[in-house]
Amino acid sequence: MGKINIAGAKTLEGKVRIGGAKNASLPILAATLLAESKNTIKEVPPLKDVLTICEVLKQLGCSVEFGENGEIDVDSSELTEVEASDELVRQMRASFLVIGPLLARMKKARIPLPGGCAIGSRPIDLHLKGFAALGADIKFNHGFVEATCDDLIGDRVYLDFPSVGATENLMMAATRAKGETVIENAAEEPEVVDLANFLNKLGAKVVGAGTDTIKIEGVKELSGTEHTVIPDRIEAGTFMAAAAISRGDVLIENVISEHVKPVMRKMEEMGVSVTESDGNVRIKSKGRQLKPVKLKTLPYPGYPTDMQPQMVSLLSTVPGESIVTETVFENRFRHVEELKRMNANIIVQGNSAIINGASSLLGAPIKATDLRAGASLVLAGLVAEGTTQVHDMYHLERGYYGFMDKLSKLGAEIWKDHENIKKVL
Ligand code: UD1
Repeated sequence: MGKINIAGAKTLEGKVRIGGAKNASLPILAATLLAESKNTIKEVPPLKDVLTICEVLKQLGCSVEFGENGEIDVDSSELTEVEASDELVRQMRASFLVIGPLLARMKKARIPLPGGCAIGSRPIDLHLKGFAALGADIKFNHGFVEATCDDLIGDRVYLDFPSVGATENLMMAATRAKGETVIENAAEEPEVVDLANFLNKLGAKVVGAGTDTIKIEGVKELSGTEHTVIPDRIEAGTFMAAAAISRGDVLIENVISEHVKPVMRKMEEMGVSVTESDGNVRIKSKGRQLKPVKLKTLPYPGYPTDMQPQMVSLLSTVPGESIVTETVFENRFRHVEELKRMNANIIVQGNSAIINGASSLLGAPIKATDLRAGASLVLAGLVAEGTTQVHDMYHLERGYYGFMDKLSKLGAEIWKDHENIKKVL
């Protein structure tokens, strides 16, 4: 997907169904390495990132089969490799999640350093500190992390920051360690809980996921299971923002409302009508006067960093001064420069964006710099005057399945560059 076009000033109406969570699917697929048999994972979104982790699993010796409706069978009975290729790990940082399961099962792993990222430096020190605490020997060699151990031995690990990836990687490593591992200051994100539920179905003994202290009692072996991943709270939040920015009325289906509570509450504070009912959330901003707000991104249950760019776009259309502070990642305001091309009035000072939303957005050629930035620019395009062209939309393929199609069914006019007529993917 190169460039897409959005004809602005459209109101979104109707209903949209949310798919399975990318960020739950990736660690769960990595965790299939722990079970020495076949696993069936359901509701996995067929995204680029999912295909990448499946390629990594195949490199390690798993057989991976794609069924219908997002079902993936992974048979990890026999692993033949402990090394993932640089090419795949560079494509997606989350490939690094295989190191924990490999250490637990094979007692060694050789994984390329994931390197930098458009939204900040994103180090892996907490992952490695945790493996070392469990007795692994960690070396850096020719751009690879080489981790080895005789046996992993359970211990207490305090994370300096509640990193989602480090919590997941350590939790997986600890499932087959000797004795008890306690992860303190653990991430509490719903995706961590979904992974813990999957691990427990495999036969692991994980308690406390969803709190800041997770205890894992190591077991000798784990065996395959079936699991359905949770709905994607960031996809849900993105459609909530799309409904709100277009001053529309949209029913968002297949949502665990608890997971999107920080986004719902912020929208209510802005004056958006938010109604929860039985797995659905209805967002209505049609005919309502929205108010500016202050918000700060935080680890869960705080406001999610992955919903920050979309909210910056929304607040650029709300009269008055809003302040958005990013505390999870450095350098996560790259969408702001693009929004300014669309006439948004935003100043970045340190880790805050000061948004004066009085001006109306104007369609312009702009560029997606990462996945969520790309989504935020599409949302801005929905409401801008004239046509917006968003370049480098391949970022969106990593995280949203059928995004254009879903928006189009809600009334957006959105089309790929090479299409002569305005039709959807
Ligand atoms: C996951 C999500 C990503 C989301 C992020 C925060 C997946 C696949 N990705 O990413 O979409 O934006 O959580 O909610 O689930 N850090 C360290 N040292 C480490 C690890 C992390 O300093 O060893 C720092 C990072 O630089 C960052 C912060 O911790 O500033 C949060 O990162 P982390 O929670 O680890 O994010 P990811 O797991 O990479």
